Amino acid sequence: MIATVRKARRLEGEVRLPGDKSISHRALILGAIASGESRFRGLSAGADVRSTAGCMRALGVEVTESRVRGAGMHGLRAPAGALDCGNSGTTMRLLAGLLAAQPFTTELRGDDSLTARPMDRVVTPLREMGAAASWPPLAVGGRGPLHGIDYVMPVASAQVKSAVLLAGLFADGRTTIVEPVATRNHTELMLEAMGAMVLVDGRRVQVSPAERLASLDIDIPGDLSAASFWLVASGLISNARVRIQNAGTNPSRMKFIELLRDAGIGIEVEGAHKAGGEPVADLLVGAAAGLRPVTIDGAMAAEMIDELPVLAVAATQLPGTSRITGAAELRVKESDRVAAMAEGLAAMGADITALDDGWVITGPRHLEGARVRSHRDHRIAMALAIAGLLADGTTEIDDAESVDISYPGFFDQLESLC
Ligand code: S3P
Repeated sequence: MIATVRKARRLEGEVRLPGDKSISHRALILGAIASGESRFRGLSAGADVRSTAGCMRALGVEVTESRVRGAGMHGLRAPAGALDCGNSGTTMRLLAGLLAAQPFTTELRGDDSLTARPMDRVVTPLREMGAAASWPPLAVGGRGPLHGIDYVMPVASAQVKSAVLLAGLFADGRTTIVEPVATRNHTELMLEAMGAMVLVDGRRVQVSPAERLASLDIDIPGDLSAASFWLVASGLISNARVRIQNAGTNPSRMKFIELLRDAGIGIEVEGAHKAGGEPVADLLVGAAAGLRPVTIDGAMAAEMIDELPVLAVAATQLPGTSRITGAAELRVKESDRVAAMAEGLAAMGADITALDDGWVITGPRHLEGARVRSHRDHRIAMALAIAGLLADGTTEIDDAESVDISYPGFFDQLESLC
């Protein structure tokens, strides 16, 4: 599908976000090994979370969009064939950790994009724990008990951290992980809420083996990474007044908001409360004042990794030169996001240079609508749609249905705000 986006004269209204993708995956996976039935409200309807649901069903677990019947710590069944993780790195990496500890071997497959993404980063620590694990193709499990390890992670990745934590639940002895940068902590929070022993000390996370996990009954907050598109659009379009309802405001995801504020975009947080152990609030975006360029380096890049494509769009409108570096991980996401955004924004007239690990972008530049490529990557499609709202004329985005991976209804929401 080709999506057509025109310049927005104003942006106004309420945004209802999809359920947080990261929390939704974890709710299904951890709910599957809990004792008893878990209930969720607001699970993401995106294709990635549907991939996780399909995998859990293949492992013998009863799953609907609002419930999971927990099989207990040792109740998963060997699947009849390879598990299909679709486009979802989170599904593949988290399940690699869970399934490495099972008495049966599981092969995990994905689409062309996922097949090309690095999985040695989970295979290495899982093997250190004594698991059978190989890649490519990714196959894990089927060997005796695991043992706890001390693991210093070479790459900042919440997915790898979570894989090791999940395996650690089944290991003999404690497992300790030291992260280069503190990444999103949804796995730790959910495990604690389920009664597991998780100790966090800065960038050090320790998990003890668990005999039993309590079931969940949670409201899943709106996805802050999905909100990032509207934050940028409404921050840069004059006369915008947008309220984003029920956004997850977990501090491990909030660096992007702080950065937009530093860049001069006014964002207010209202009605803060907790839901399912996670902080939640409404976000109000008003007109920007005194815009400034941004500088991002290694640690910061890891803390807003999913927001960087739309940050590149924002940087085209910030006066001065923005430097976004330390983001080599963008090259191994659902697409090579460094190259994809440089290509799309350059086609629209931006002053953007791709680096090995980010971009240098000088603004403000007048953007012109163009035909651009999403590279079948949901976040590229959405970031370029926001560029289209800021550009004169018409922007056409190819393979725009890829937004369904994390944000079904994205284009309907866009239309309703314009
Ligand atoms: C995620 C972690 C991030 C992020 C992805 C979701 C998670 O990946 O890009 O969209 O749910 O743990 P990495 O941890 O590999 O950077």
